Amino acid sequence: MKKVFSGIQPSGVIHLGNYLGAIKQWVELQDEADQAVFCIVDLHAITVPQDPKTLKQNILSVAALYLAAGIDPNKSIIFVQSSRPEHAELAWILNTVTKMGELSRMTQFKDKSQKTSIESASVGLFDYPVLMAADILLYGTTHVPVGEDQKQHVELARDLALRFNSRYGTTFTVPEPLIRRESARIMGLDDPAKKMSKSAQSALNYIAILDDAETIANKIKRAVTDSESEIKVGAEKPAITNLLNIFAEVSDQSVAEIEQEFQGKNYGQFKKSLAEAIVAYLKPIQEKYDKIIQDEDSLKKILEDGSRRAKILAEKTLLDVKEKIGLGL
Ligand code: ADP
Ligand code: TRP
Repeated sequence: MKKVFSGIQPSGVIHLGNYLGAIKQWVELQDEADQAVFCIVDLHAITVPQDPKTLKQNILSVAALYLAAGIDPNKSIIFVQSSRPEHAELAWILNTVTKMGELSRMTQFKDKSQKTSIESASVGLFDYPVLMAADILLYGTTHVPVGEDQKQHVELARDLALRFNSRYGTTFTVPEPLIRRESARIMGLDDPAKKMSKSAQSALNYIAILDDAETIANKIKRAVTDSESEIKVGAEKPAITNLLNIFAEVSDQSVAEIEQEFQGKNYGQFKKSLAEAIVAYLKPIQEKYDKIIQDEDSLKKILEDGSRRAKILAEKTLLDVKEKIGLGL
């Protein structure tokens, strides 16, 4: 049985990294999986401060993007994390089998807490990977399609599942990460040493899925490049390598074919074609999104229906967990 679970935080604009690293493979997986569950993880989003109004809008916006990208509610369960109390409940229980040391080693916590300081980072931010483990383990998940940055978190979910199973008897399926090699780590346009991210300081870091043609052209034009003008991948050319990878992902061409096409041409010509390719790639998604977001009632119905279907699966797991531990009457 192939059971897939993944999620994205409604904490800002969804960008090309999210799309190529995660959502794109979800769409392919929903056809081959026996169960596919895609969540809008709002409880994760609030581990850093969020404006309540914006958060609410972002939840619907991310849901609309899932649908626009091709996640089909007839094939997949789509729901909002906070609509299912089982997530927070299982996270609490998993907290009791998680070690402080394990969470202290999570690189995302180290990165995110560095932005303020450990002293003022929320306990929720520290505990974030345990809630993620609960998301995954509630649904008997076998495969977790994510970008490279989430690998360590999925490994923690594996460790917790194994530890719980050995302590209380087999309860959880042990999940594994599914990471697409080609798009595992799309880098920032303004800094190819860091991944493209929603929480980047500057909007020049990312291409948002909903950016218009002019914005995309401008961002690509201003994207940093490397010394020497050759358009070729290489360890010493991280910026062009990243742009070539993006180009290959949004066109039907391989990196080698694109290198060939731009042999002897300059960065300006290359960037112009790249921007056009991205615009063409995103256009159908944007058109669908515009329609879906206008019909808020239908969108909410899909999410409510998803939540009902998630409930059946989540409740069953949680009941089993409580029984194994000896909680309740
Ligand atoms: P962000 O880091 O931008 O806030 P999330 O943490 O919500 O994005 O990530 C949602 C999904 O998108 C995860 O599966 C994550 O691994 C993937 N992802 C995020 N950024 C990138 C990137 N730059 N390249 C590839 N995948 C990414
Ligand atoms: N932590 C993930 C991210 O920031 C989002 C997430 C939460 C997730 N729960 C999940 C991803 C469960 C996969 C499975 O990208």
